[in-house]
Amino acid sequence: MSKKIFVKTFGCQMNEYDTNRIIDTVKKIGFEKTDNLEETDCYLLNTCHIRNKAKDKVYHEIGRVKKSLRLKKKPFVIVAGCVAQAENEEMLKREPYIDLVIGPQAYHKINNKIEEFLHKQKKIEETDFEAESKFNYLNRIKNTSSKVSTFLTVQEGCDKFCHFCVVPYTRGPEYSRPFNEIVDEAKTLSENGAREIILLGQNVNAYKNENFRLSDLILEIEKIPEIKRIRYSTSHPRDMTKDLIDVYSFSKKLMPLVHLPVQTGSDKILKLMNRKHLINDYIKTYEKLKSINPNIEFSSDFIIAYPGEEEEDFNATFELIKNIKFINSFSFIFSPRPGTTASNLKLIDKKISQRRLEKVQRQLFDHQILMNKSLENKQIEVLVENRTKESNKFFGRSEYMTSVIFDGNDQEIGNVIKVKITNSNQNTLFGESIKKTEKRVA
Ligand code: SAM
Ligand code: SF4
Ligand code: F3S
Repeated sequence: MSKKIFVKTFGCQMNEYDTNRIIDTVKKIGFEKTDNLEETDCYLLNTCHIRNKAKDKVYHEIGRVKKSLRLKKKPFVIVAGCVAQAENEEMLKREPYIDLVIGPQAYHKINNKIEEFLHKQKKIEETDFEAESKFNYLNRIKNTSSKVSTFLTVQEGCDKFCHFCVVPYTRGPEYSRPFNEIVDEAKTLSENGAREIILLGQNVNAYKNENFRLSDLILEIEKIPEIKRIRYSTSHPRDMTKDLIDVYSFSKKLMPLVHLPVQTGSDKILKLMNRKHLINDYIKTYEKLKSINPNIEFSSDFIIAYPGEEEEDFNATFELIKNIKFINSFSFIFSPRPGTTASNLKLIDKKISQRRLEKVQRQLFDHQILMNKSLENKQIEVLVENRTKESNKFFGRSEYMTSVIFDGNDQEIGNVIKVKITNSNQNTLFGESIKKTEKRVA
């Protein structure tokens, strides 16, 4: 009988990709995924260390599992991901309920580590940095994701060391996977049913393997007939090279939403953050892309109240947001991360930080609402992903990644169809698939 594994994932899309690859891997030693915590033999928590109390959240989660399973047989407990990398053996000391701590570059060793534990009952910590070995191993294990929209990690780690960020410490140095491996994995995913591929990396547009760049990957994956849409995330403004910008003029499948984190609108703060570009460089990239295709929209990440942010710096961020009219963006108050250059800097007063965040978010949400409202009574293209849980509605996404809920039918899953938008709110568009609308009219 197969053993069961229950997984919970915090953090970014790369963690989601990793979790799925871990599930593919542990199948080799007899584990099957379960959604029922009570019946699990193994509990895996994939963690994120990017902001606030990440560590506390992990111990809290483990405490919760311990409590809810107190009358059951204890599962084998694995903590993976960026907190595991940052905390390593400390975790085993602090929480004896944890059995294995494994960092993101050591997932290729997970089966050996699980078997080692099951035989010796000895707690294990494994946090080496070996991205190349990891992908060499994972490449031999079939990616079984069968989602319509699926992630594909092409690059991992970061050499940029922005002063606020833990990623270079938790994910290690930049590593780009070989071009052919990625294209083969994209083909496998398309055979499994993928129609949209989201290429992932902590700095995905820094992808470089031999002479291949991200632009080459996009153009090669675009040749797979079943793949209808391509996206990539997350990018650094300094790596928006000419070849990548040019791809927007001839690619037929690259979506017109550019997620390009700027963090702040102030040159002074960019410098303090060690971002190594100016706002004007960012605006130039924006203008070049808009001149290629005026329908391209931008989304971004913002860090509000970075140490040293004065009112005029904040106003520069606010102005940038008003000018670029970002959609689908993320904004957070700066959170000091242990071990980073900015960890000991003087924090901005909490009330001021909160007021600034709220002002920025109101503006970002207003853009979002206006953008969604402007689509009402129009037809848009939607890639249909699945049925929604509750009713007989369907779920898909617009070209700009906005969720669309509509009346459709099962045959449309995996297709790009036209949906007439009838209503909207900040995060979602509602509508009816055109065929259905036409039928009703007839
Ligand atoms: N590589 C991307 C870039 O350079 O823009 C960002 C990747 S990072 C995993 C995702 C986002 O987390 C960042 O864009 C930033 O806005 C946010 N972030 C990272 N460290 C943070 C911190 N210490 N406090 C608040 N937000 C943070
Ligand atoms: Fe973090 Fe991105 Fe900066 Fe790298 S480039 S240190 S991932 S914010
Ligand atoms: Fe979090 Fe690590 Fe991703 S810190 S955002 S899970 S790279």
